[in-house]
Amino acid sequence: MESTTQGKFYIQTFGCQMNERDSETLAGMLTDLGYGPCGDKAEADVVILNTCSVRENADKRFFGILGQLKKYREERSDMVVAVCGCMMQQQHVIDTLKAKYPWVDLVFGTHNIHQFPQLFQNVVQERRKIVEIWEDGGAIVEGLPAKHLYDFKAFVNIMYGCNNFCTYCIVPYTRGRERSRRPEEIVEEAKRLARSGVKEITLLGQNVNSYGVSRYEGGYCAADEKGPDFAGLLYLLNEIEGIERIRFMTSHPKDLSDRLIGAFADCEKLCRHIHLPVQSGSTEVLRRMNRRYTREQYLELVSRLKDAVPDIALTTDIIVGFPGETEAQFEDTLDLARKVEYDSAFTFLYSVRKGTPAEKYGDQVPEEVKHQRFNRLVDVIHGIQAVKNKACEGRIEKVLVEGPSKTDPRTLGGRNDANKTVNFSGPRELTGQIVDVRITEGKTFSLWGEVAGRPSPCPQKGSKSGPAPGKEGEHE
Ligand code: SAH
Ligand code: SF4
Ligand code: F3S
Repeated sequence: MESTTQGKFYIQTFGCQMNERDSETLAGMLTDLGYGPCGDKAEADVVILNTCSVRENADKRFFGILGQLKKYREERSDMVVAVCGCMMQQQHVIDTLKAKYPWVDLVFGTHNIHQFPQLFQNVVQERRKIVEIWEDGGAIVEGLPAKHLYDFKAFVNIMYGCNNFCTYCIVPYTRGRERSRRPEEIVEEAKRLARSGVKEITLLGQNVNSYGVSRYEGGYCAADEKGPDFAGLLYLLNEIEGIERIRFMTSHPKDLSDRLIGAFADCEKLCRHIHLPVQSGSTEVLRRMNRRYTREQYLELVSRLKDAVPDIALTTDIIVGFPGETEAQFEDTLDLARKVEYDSAFTFLYSVRKGTPAEKYGDQVPEEVKHQRFNRLVDVIHGIQAVKNKACEGRIEKVLVEGPSKTDPRTLGGRNDANKTVNFSGPRELTGQIVDVRITEGKTFSLWGEVAGRPSPCPQKGSKSGPAPGKEGEHE
């Protein structure tokens, strides 16, 4: 039994899975300090906003919510409001917080999460405000607690930071240099999770394909230690008893190795899905984005993946309206999306980020042109997705059941191998189990089905269906 002697906490997370995983660490730390979770900020004794700076609307939402919190904080002098995450690694944000939100109790960044229990206790005991930001990451701190959202699936960080400096992206500035965790630490964590009942792990990194590549002091380097690279790590994790599914994200196309393609064939637990952000279908735009691959190289990679793993599901990220993008270049993106036949895609309007090289590019695309292109792209993506989902009808899919739907408790929802949402009728006791479901209807954003009477003929395979949840459009 958890004791909640100290009070209740509420954590709101913006941004990517890295941030979600960090929030799980914060929840684990607060649990160890005797706090319990609650579902309403107004009732919480501790509120943490874990922020994202990848696009402007994430920034705006953060300041909107912070504004609402002011009222609760004024009414309750014992409440603690803490803010952390990527936005805190930007000096202009810290300046704004100090000037306009001086009532915020604790500010910390992405590099010193491990300090949270100490900083938090100092705030509570001494009733003083603390701003503690580290410029860059030190050695990786292992052994931090975590309270995972689900009992049966979990995120596992394999590396931190990014060295790629795509010209539009803030992440290398907010998350620091690329550094990898030691393989034995990752394997140990996966074994621990398996012992606690976790069946599916998702390996996280901004670019998992360069796992063990950088020579960051205190980080793991595969070449220096003659140890596993990313593919090698997958082979090790595939051996762990109790883990039934392995996913990973995100893969940078420039670093995708033949060995990784080989791992799809060899590792039966590896889900047949790859998220391979393309960003643009125009070689010239890709050059200006500093992506370091061409349209042709990307298409070649996709065809090698499809040849090696015929049932692979492909998803992507695409930015619309990057500075200087012409109508013809945008049409190259539409054409590439049709050629690849993505199972789904996250599509984004280009958003200027302070401090990135693209901020200085003079030829910004007008807002209305960006929106119009965005809508055209989404139509194309949805069209492909609808056809692919329809083609799933009649197939038997392995679904890891996440639980009953909020609106109808008799409908269960889960994910197939390709990470696509599958809904079907069944008892809530199936939550956390991997169930065979026969697909009866393929809609644009989800699959619907019924529990199949017999096991799937080919575990973890046999699906050409689409992956990622129907979350197209701007997502934060
Ligand atoms: N490391 C991951 C992505 C991290 S950010 C990768 O490289 O794949 C997630 C996505 O946000 C990116 O793939 C990109 O499509 C989008 N993105 C990043 N910066 C953006 C910006 N300034 N404007 C619009 N979209 C952006
Ligand atoms: Fe950003 Fe590029 Fe790094 Fe991804 S690879 S986090 S898009 S800089
Ligand atoms: Fe993730 Fe947003 Fe930071 S996408 S790494 S939380 S800027």
